[in-house]
Amino acid sequence: MTKAVISNPPTRHFLSLLDLRAGEPMQLIHRAIELKDRQHAGERYEPLKNRVLGMIFDKASTRTRVSFETGMIQFGGGAIFLSARDTQLGRGEPLEDSARVMSRMVDGIMIRTFDQATLETFAMHSRVPIINGLTDQFHPCQLLADMQTWYEHRGHMRGKTALWVGDGNNMCHSYINAARRFDFRLRIACPAGYDPDAAVLAAAGDRCEIIRDPVAAAAGCDLVVTDVWASMGQEEEQNAREKAFADYQVDRRVMDAARPDALFMHCLPAHRGEEVSAEVIDGPRSVVWDEAENRLHAQKALLELLLSPA
Ligand code: CP
Ligand code: NVA
Repeated sequence: MTKAVISNPPTRHFLSLLDLRAGEPMQLIHRAIELKDRQHAGERYEPLKNRVLGMIFDKASTRTRVSFETGMIQFGGGAIFLSARDTQLGRGEPLEDSARVMSRMVDGIMIRTFDQATLETFAMHSRVPIINGLTDQFHPCQLLADMQTWYEHRGHMRGKTALWVGDGNNMCHSYINAARRFDFRLRIACPAGYDPDAAVLAAAGDRCEIIRDPVAAAAGCDLVVTDVWASMGQEEEQNAREKAFADYQVDRRVMDAARPDALFMHCLPAHRGEEVSAEVIDGPRSVVWDEAENRLHAQKALLELLLSPA
C-alpha cells in the first residue's frame, strides 16, 4: 500500500516588508484602521480563537511584547513569552530543532533577535509563520504602524517625501523598504560612516537618497522620522555615537525646514536631548503616541492575515 503524502501548504513568513504580496501593504493598513475602530467601539472580534503565538525575545521590548500579547488575547487566542534565558535556546539547542519543535505546537512565532539569518534559519524549519519582531537589519512591524499613522493623519503617502535622520540602522532599512512598498520618496540624513546597507539602499533605486545635512534635507518633507543613536547591542558605542551624531538631532530647526504640516515620528524608546529635542517629540507635530498605539492594530491585521485558520 502506498503511503499518503501529506504536504503542508507553503508557509508564509513576515521577515521583512518585501514578503508582502502586491496590494497587501495598503490592505493591511486599511484593515488595521478598521480593527482599531471596532476595538475602540468595544466590539468583540475573535478570529484567532484558541490560536497561540510564541514570542521569542533575545532583546528587551515594551511595545512589541505588549502589542503582540494584547492583540492575540483580543483575538481570542494567547501568546507565550519566551526568552533565550529561560529556554533551551539559551543553552545551545540548535535553532533548527527549536523551530521544528515549537512550530508543531504553536500557530505562529514572533522573534526579536540580532541577526536576520537567525530568523531565516527558523523560518526554513518552521511549519508556521515566522514574524520579524526586530532584528539588527529590519523592523517591519514598526513600519506597518508608522504607515498606518501617516495614512490616518495625512492620507495616502504615495508621492510624498519622508526624511530619516540619524543612524542607517534597522529602522532606516525598513523605511527604505517601506518607500518601495508604499510608493513614497525617502531622504536619509546620516553622518558618513553610518550609512544604511548599500544593497538595501540600491534595491530602492532613485526613490531614496542620502543628503548629509538634516536641515537642508528637510526642505519640502512631509514626515520626519528618527531613532536612537545606539541601538540594542550597540551600548558600548554610546559615547562614540554621541559625538558622531551630535549634529543629527531632530529639533525645531529641522522641523521648521520641513513642510508646515510635516509630522514627526519615532518608534520609541526615545532619548530626549539626543536624537530628538523634548520640544519636538512632545510638541504639536509629533504623533508618536498614535504611532505606538498603532503597533497593536497594525499587528492584529498582520496576525489575522498570517494566522487565520485556512
Ligand atoms: N518600537 C519598539 O519596537 O519598541 P519596543 O522595543 O519597546 O518593543
Ligand atoms: N533601532 C532600535 C529600535 C528599537 C525599537 C534598536 O534596534 O534598538
